[in-house]
Amino acid sequence: MIGGKKKCIGLIFGGESNEHEVSISSAKTVFQAFNSEINKSRFTVKAFYINKSGDWLDSNSSEKILIGEIENENIKKQAVFIQEKINFLDGIEFQNVDVWFPLLHGFNGEDGSIHGLLRFTKKPLVGCGIIGSAIGMDKILMKTIFSNLKLPQVNYLVFQNEDLNNKEVKNRFISQIIRKLNFPIFVKPSNSGSSLGISKVNDQSKLSQALENAWEIDQRILVEEGLEVREIECAIIGNSELLTSEIGEVSYETDWYDYDTKYNLANKITIPARVDSKITQQIKEISIESCKALNIFGFARVDFFLEKSSNKVFLNEINTIPGFTKKSMFPMLWKASGLNIEQLVAKLVEISQDS
Ligand SMILES: Nc1ncnc2c1ncn2[C@@H]1O[C@H](COP(=O)(O)OP(=O)(O)O)[C@@H](O)[C@H]1O
Ligand SMILES: [Mg+2]
Repeated sequence: MIGGKKKCIGLIFGGESNEHEVSISSAKTVFQAFNSEINKSRFTVKAFYINKSGDWLDSNSSEKILIGEIENENIKKQAVFIQEKINFLDGIEFQNVDVWFPLLHGFNGEDGSIHGLLRFTKKPLVGCGIIGSAIGMDKILMKTIFSNLKLPQVNYLVFQNEDLNNKEVKNRFISQIIRKLNFPIFVKPSNSGSSLGISKVNDQSKLSQALENAWEIDQRILVEEGLEVREIECAIIGNSELLTSEIGEVSYETDWYDYDTKYNLANKITIPARVDSKITQQIKEISIESCKALNIFGFARVDFFLEKSSNKVFLNEINTIPGFTKKSMFPMLWKASGLNIEQLVAKLVEISQDS
């Protein structure tokens, strides 16, 4: 932006979700990328940290977290905005923000809440809008739409609008699962993240407990047939036209990609994933089709299963605010596709739209 005004990026991070720490790491990477030699003449960053109780902090304190000057736990209480104000947005000094970059994962971040709030500021944002975020976060709705499009998915059953505490209802659902799906079975809360609340069940005796674990997080539950799979991911960016990255594979030592495995640094990422070129092509096409079906644009990461025995592709899910840490798949996929992190963040701002 030669001679022009620098763009101010409103970077929002932290949040009430169980992915709070990941969000801080993601924001640190993005903050550094905007402050890099190539970007710092074009962008400034105004940081907005939301603590684990959901309070927004002022920009000075927020920035100190990003540069590692203070730990998130040590923020003084006075730095928190007074939320009793009738106009909540008055408390957030957002007037000089040109483009929002929400980097919150999970609850109140990826589910469309922050996108709805930011709409009131009348500023564009990086990522997709309310609909895509809300549906992308809800496994049941997401799968229902994919089924309508006949996109390849594992067999599944849905439990909703019923009371799991009612023994008869629960037993009826368990018999239905046993009749219709083969073990192992994955039981998942419809809205969650980082594998929290998900159980892999190898036999009938553990089904009841698995349903209760999911119910604790969400009273809408998805039950899936479990396959022996490789896990392949593809990134997209764009608006009316979506671009796909190279595809990548994540492999790990444990049985499945549960919470502890996800944040274990020993996982291996291979880019490009070693699969047949036809499969790569199929994964890229489904990535675009699935994002378009859910009105997801801006940026996203689409996750697939590749069944080991048959080499069949199954669409798993779309993440609308992918991780941006130094070890995250999303920036790694784009780096392998020719966009380093500095170019990537600049590109995301360039294509940002109103929410
Ligand atoms: N049907 C399935 N077959 C095999 N593995 C599965 C299946 N569903 C989930 N998994 C395993 O559980 C992990 C988390 O499931 P996922 O639906 O992606 O939840 P989250 O949104 O929490 O990431 C997957 O990455 C995979 O390792
Ligand atoms: Mg997943």
